[in-house]
Amino acid sequence: MAGILEKRRTLHKQLAEQQYTNDQLQSQIEQLQTLANLGMVSAMIAHEINNILTPLENYAHLAIQNPDDEALIFKALRKTAANSQRASKILEAILSMTNDQDQVKTDCRINALVDDVFLCLARDFARDNINVSIQIPEDLTVRAQPVCLQQVLMNLILNAREAMLPKGGKLTIRAGQSHDSVMIEVADTGCGIEPDNLAKIFQPFFTTKDNKSKSERPGAGLGLAFCKKVVDGHNGIISVESEPGRGTTFKIILPKDS
Ligand SMILES: Nc1ncnc2c1ncn2[C@@H]1O[C@H](COP(=O)(O)OP(=O)(O)OP(=O)(O)O)[C@@H](O)[C@H]1O
Ligand SMILES: [Mg+2]
Repeated sequence: MAGILEKRRTLHKQLAEQQYTNDQLQSQIEQLQTLANLGMVSAMIAHEINNILTPLENYAHLAIQNPDDEALIFKALRKTAANSQRASKILEAILSMTNDQDQVKTDCRINALVDDVFLCLARDFARDNINVSIQIPEDLTVRAQPVCLQQVLMNLILNAREAMLPKGGKLTIRAGQSHDSVMIEVADTGCGIEPDNLAKIFQPFFTTKDNKSKSERPGAGLGLAFCKKVVDGHNGIISVESEPGRGTTFKIILPKDS
């Protein structure tokens, strides 16, 4: 009898020790996940701020190169001020998004968001032989976090542009609604995506822009990962259809009451 009791006590002790080790491991995993998440957030913030910094630099150069054009200098300064403000808003928005805090959503006019992206980009699409067609009902709105949704559109538009260089092509941005959702589409007639890569493009750090040719800007592989995070955060869906050599269409569906 005493032997059995002793064995039971030993088993209990072993069990408690195992439980303790398990708890320790679990807490280490959680700490590692927090660190990984933090790394990802930092990378995404850097990526989106960089998207804003590039046009900022372009405007500053434009002003420096045209010291006598007062109107241009004034425009460049206005853009610089607006983009700097956007950069700090982006920081705030991404931080609250990744901390799982409730996003402040407003009714955003999709047309206004798209116009703002083009204003912000400081790139002349016509000069790149890219014909832009925007087909969005004038007063179509979607309930969303405006800064983040705008960055999503910017990433899709930048990708479309890069896919069509240097030849040029057509960029079409469409939007529409059904009774319970709003759809936004960004379509290009660029290089398309190889079927093997289609499943990987939303993964963080997947890129084919590894700067083989000097004319191409190296990619971080974070644009689409960011888009997916934002769309997921709005309980929406982002999908892609592509045909190598013909073009690519990204489609976002957002619930009306997200
Ligand atoms: N419109 C498109 N046409 C063709 N390929 C695309 C398009 N959009 C994305 N891709 C492919 O998906 C990959 C991942 O895109 P993503 O935007 O995440 O990263 P990236 O553009 O390479 O770099 P960055 O982090 O600077 O955006 C691209 O490298 C490219 O291969
Ligand atoms: Mg990109």
